[in-house]
Amino acid sequence: MRWALLLLGLVALPALPALALDEPRFSAGWGFDQRTGPALYAAICAGCHMPDGRGARGAAAYPALAGNARLAATPYLLRMILKGGKAMPAFGSVLDDGQVGAVANEVLRRFGPPGQSAVAITNDEVATMRAAIQQEQRSQAP
Ligand code: HEC
Repeated sequence: MRWALLLLGLVALPALPALALDEPRFSAGWGFDQRTGPALYAAICAGCHMPDGRGARGAAAYPALAGNARLAATPYLLRMILKGGKAMPAFGSVLDDGQVGAVANEVLRRFGPPGQSAVAITNDEVATMRAAIQQEQRSQAP
């Protein structure tokens, strides 16, 4: 892993897009055409978190989004979408700011705690979180 990263760094760093994920599970250049929240949720999130947001248990545990108190923290939601988690892929390199905002707003609208569903995440908030993650990843680089 470390060697792979090092090699990637040496060979491909100048050519990598701004958001170089430390562990890409989806190849660069791969993306989504969908632009609306419902379409993005259905295309990406529903496969693991289920269309009704109740999550699933199988080879891995896919946490429920419906009624999930952690959705009260908008930055947490944006970070999960952009950077992924332990068994959740990162989508930062395959979605632009508008798409991330649209799917995040859809998740809040459908599954967020009461009150939170009225929140409208802006592209600026997404861009700010994206920049923060890039900064962290840069400072973690070997
Ligand atoms: C390939 C399966 C997969 C896909 C696709 C996926 N997730 Fe996840 N998601 C997970 C897993 C597994 C976790 C638990 C991650 C962990 O433990 O770090 C998770 C965690 C989360 C969490 C944190 C939940 C908590 O209780 O901490 C949020 C929020 C989330 N996902 C939102 C989304 C959204 C929004 C999408 C669509 C853009 C999405 N996920 C797509 C598998 C997936």
